[in-house]
Amino acid sequence: MSNFWSFYIIAIVALNIGGCAWLLMWTRTMDKDDMPADGTTGHVYDGIREYNNPLPRWWLWLFWITIFFAIGYLTLYPGLGKFQGVLGWSSHNELAKDEKDYQAQYGAIYANYAKMPFEQLAKDDRAMKIAGRLFANNCSACHGADAHGGRGFPNLTDNDWLYGGEPDRIYETIMEGRNGMMPAWKDILGAQGVKEAASYALSLSGRENLDHKLVAAGQEKFATNCAACHGPDGKGNPMMGAPNLTDTIWLYGGSESTVIKTLTEGRNGMMPAWKDILGPERVHLLAAYVWSMSHNK
Ligand code: HEC
Ligand code: HEC
Repeated sequence: MSNFWSFYIIAIVALNIGGCAWLLMWTRTMDKDDMPADGTTGHVYDGIREYNNPLPRWWLWLFWITIFFAIGYLTLYPGLGKFQGVLGWSSHNELAKDEKDYQAQYGAIYANYAKMPFEQLAKDDRAMKIAGRLFANNCSACHGADAHGGRGFPNLTDNDWLYGGEPDRIYETIMEGRNGMMPAWKDILGAQGVKEAASYALSLSGRENLDHKLVAAGQEKFATNCAACHGPDGKGNPMMGAPNLTDTIWLYGGSESTVIKTLTEGRNGMMPAWKDILGPERVHLLAAYVWSMSHNK
């Protein structure tokens, strides 16, 4: 905030508080000299005469109290332009203090869990309860409350993995995030080529009622264009997150039209990185939790 705006705000606040005080003094009573001697203001409406009485004391005091409170508050806390208040309170310090308290209270618990191997953690009810809450708060928006995922968001309970299901791999996925890169093929293969490649891709998982000519033409296209990532047999590659095309689990959907859309436009699934948000200890817990969903049965 520039000095000008700081001064501008201070001036407005001071004028308002001063103005309120002045108004209170000024309206305590009306000037007796201008009034009729009977103690009224001389104003009559519908037979009701208006007396020139002062405001009730308690009422007046309420106003004074709010004025003193405002002055006290603005002295102690930030509120007047750049003036920080004599207590030095700030939302930053407050947050830092809260985090320190939290760390003091829960840090030891997390540190303790971080030393335990994933498989052992997965059997620890209390640890899994904490991890379940972390999951609900941070992951369920995309993967679903039950972690079953949805279109474009993988199911984490089925032991079918884009990037690998060993606990260390899951940990790495959550810490660093992942970015699935399926290129768009419409310019390279053309609409007909895409159709052929899609037919072959669908045949890999045993889809019936496919046009055999398309499948045969697609096989060659697959070998030259797709095998590098999805593997020569279409079983996928966890290093790149290329899905296994031989099972019936689909990330984006397995209808012919959806697969054609996937090939035509490409896909770009983004799993955010959590290391800066949750830190390694909580991610360790979450990795055990995710792993347990397909192994603790
Ligand atoms: C903004 C949405 C979003 C959020 C939030 C999110 N994820 Fe993901 N996650 C994804 C997407 C999308 C993918 C698939 C990435 C791809 O297609 O390459 C993914 C992939 C994963 C995978 C890899 C699955 C596999 O098959 O290899 C794991 C494990 C995972 N997420 C766990 C988590 C955890 C734990 C959290 C919470 C800390 C989380 N995700 C939060 C969107 C999200
Ligand atoms: C550069 C590596 C790469 C190449 C080459 C590639 N893919 Fe992919 N493909 C991927 C990745 C990675 C994904 C997952 C995208 C995501 O997670 O968002 C994917 C997703 C798919 C899907 C969606 C699967 C599902 O479960 O919904 C299909 C189908 C597919 N690819 C078929 C093909 C075909 C056919 C070709 C050849 C024409 C091909 N891909 C070439 C990397 C590749």
